[in-house]
Amino acid sequence: MKIEMIQKKLSIDEYFESMGIKACHSRNGFWKHAANVDSSLAEKLEPLFTRKMKGNIYELKNQSLPFSLAVESWTMSFHLAFLNWVNGQEKLKPKRILEIGCDNGLLACWYATHFPDAEIVGIDREANSIHCAKQLAMQLEVDNVRFLQMDFSELKQGFSSNSFDLIISVRTFHEIMGPILISRYWSLTEYLKGNPTYGDRKYLQIVDHLLSEDGTYLSCERLENPADLGKWANALHEANLNVGWDESEIIEYQELGIHKRSPIILATKSKAGRATLDGIEHLCMKHQDVVLEAGNSYSGVAAEFAFHRLGKKKFHTGQYLDVTNHWHEYRFEIWETMNFLLVYCYGNMGHRQLEILPGGAFSEARLLLQESMKLFHHLGSIVHYKSMEECQE
Ligand SMILES: C[S@@+](CC[C@H](N)C(=O)[O-])C[C@H]1O[C@@H](n2cnc3c(N)ncnc32)[C@H](O)[C@@H]1O
Repeated sequence: MKIEMIQKKLSIDEYFESMGIKACHSRNGFWKHAANVDSSLAEKLEPLFTRKMKGNIYELKNQSLPFSLAVESWTMSFHLAFLNWVNGQEKLKPKRILEIGCDNGLLACWYATHFPDAEIVGIDREANSIHCAKQLAMQLEVDNVRFLQMDFSELKQGFSSNSFDLIISVRTFHEIMGPILISRYWSLTEYLKGNPTYGDRKYLQIVDHLLSEDGTYLSCERLENPADLGKWANALHEANLNVGWDESEIIEYQELGIHKRSPIILATKSKAGRATLDGIEHLCMKHQDVVLEAGNSYSGVAAEFAFHRLGKKKFHTGQYLDVTNHWHEYRFEIWETMNFLLVYCYGNMGHRQLEILPGGAFSEARLLLQESMKLFHHLGSIVHYKSMEECQE
């Protein structure tokens, strides 16, 4: 396999394919694929994935390397997008890489071939994960990677300060720090004022301790919305790690047929550049121009930043919807600025939609508001409000 990888310079797709990792476009397709590799393990794993039963997913899925690799098919598109991004980073020339939460070693073994002059250390607290990772490295005949079973909190005892010039964590810190609930927020600015960071800074201080002065910390964590991203950036900053917003990127991929996006955040010990809100705006809107003109509409985070950039505005009317038996709440509002009428529909879980209309176009605004509400009104009861104070009550 090693000879094949080096001589033919396998692409990441080929690397995955050579291990039986397959793109799955639905849950059914995924479970079928997993069952083809080991039906008994697939049968035990399914209730853990769907939370019908409690148990250690990693211990079970890593009972055999072929099954562990079959389960990778769930995240194949995500890992592909992530590794493709890493491959494109020509400035990254690490000598000592640490991967925190390396699981079965799939990513670490890729780093070992992509950075052949670097020494790679992968750590994970699960014995079965490390067992699979060592087996994978042996199969691939990569000898510049080591795998250690250890808890994240033991890293400081295991390695001295400045040990690594590249530290990577992919979807791991939500497990290390304890569950991070998805932020619920109406306004990013307001939310971050009240919830500036994630919990205990001691975790990221360990990363800071292990990272060399000119090193890079690359994280691709479960940050479900811009509010989570803001809290992550602020937590990094508290630990002396400053986000390079220009170098960071949002990757897009499919997870079992569902389109998703995740930010890859690059942080270093060099001086802080952009402030967090400015950084989020810069990163999220990198590939999108916002033009504040009548006739334009924006969705997602662009809608929130466009609404914010429109400056001083007067509230005109609003309707509120509380989704029955759920956390989701929505507001449907009309606002007036000097030049425009705005129809702004937004939810506490990140939904944002903004329509910019010419000033005075009230009938069109009401129509648009009704149209937007039609998509949601079956979900719960609606309450009208005449001011933001009334809404907040
Ligand atoms: C969601 S998985 C992600 C694995 C891999 N990075 C990936 O992208 O597929 C999280 C990993 O972090 C490991 N992990 C969680 N808490 C840990 C801790 N305190 N110390 C070391 N590893 C930990 C788990 O065992 C698991 O392998």
